[in-house]
Amino acid sequence: MTRIIAVISGKGGVGKTTSVSNIGAALTDFGRKIILVDGNITTPNLNIHLGLSKTKYSLHDVLRGKIPIKQALYLHESGIRVLPSGMSFSELKKKFKKSLRDEIIDLVGEADIILIDSPAGLDNNAESAIAAATEVLIVVNPNLPSVTDALKASLLAKEYGIRVIGFIITRYEGTEEELSIENIREFLGMDLIGVIPESRFIKKSLREHEPVVFKYPDCEASIQYKRVAANIIGEKYERYKEKKSVFKRILNWFKS
Ligand SMILES: Nc1ncnc2c1ncn2[C@@H]1O[C@H](COP(=O)(O)OP(=O)(O)OP(=O)(O)O)[C@@H](O)[C@H]1O
Ligand SMILES: [Mg+2]
Repeated sequence: MTRIIAVISGKGGVGKTTSVSNIGAALTDFGRKIILVDGNITTPNLNIHLGLSKTKYSLHDVLRGKIPIKQALYLHESGIRVLPSGMSFSELKKKFKKSLRDEIIDLVGEADIILIDSPAGLDNNAESAIAAATEVLIVVNPNLPSVTDALKASLLAKEYGIRVIGFIITRYEGTEEELSIENIREFLGMDLIGVIPESRFIKKSLREHEPVVFKYPDCEASIQYKRVAANIIGEKYERYKEKKSVFKRILNWFKS
């Protein structure tokens, strides 16, 4: 059964899109069929993280009822399938007839895991991403505003009856100015799925429009994203076993 996981945070800029692209990349390396959905309707940037240039169709076309959702999927050169969101400013004010929640059902069976990159905040757009999911993964930075907003986001997910897988801490430096991992865990009262360090390789890989897991697979941030991915699918991450070629990633789609 396809799992639909929304990656949410409450607070903006904490690393959701970075996490979606890298968890997706790691899961692809583990042989899973992955679809990444850019559920960030107003300020999408999954395309930028993945280096996906302007696409013919986007989620906006799907929500406006112009095309079926499958037609808006792109096979990224890495072997990940992506449903981009419309990048153009002129599209922002147009109203949608359809909801992601109803449309995403047509992708069930098409992938092992669908990851939805959610917008920041807890308004209607964030709610639509949460409502379309069957599970949520929460992203926090080690500071109080991020953690309090994350708690609200988790409560919103619970209102929808959606399972909270747990949380990941990103941009972690371990300095005394930060909240400790233990304090965050206590505050949120949910499972810790992984800790991603502050990493210059993540910044570099964004500039190079490629997930760090593909571009710098052996840096600490990549290893931690692979651990998170393994944790999500209930597997043990074993370093050096998972290296795959682009060819093998694409082959995932031809396996039953
Ligand atoms: N572990 C990390 N180390 C260093 N920089 C990071 C890390 N994670 C994310 N960043 C940087 O932080 C910035 C915000 O990341 P990202 O776009 O993933 O956040 P977001 O939560 O998706 O933001 P938004 O809420 O605006 O959608 C980016 O410049 C990204 O490169
Ligand atoms: Mg984002």
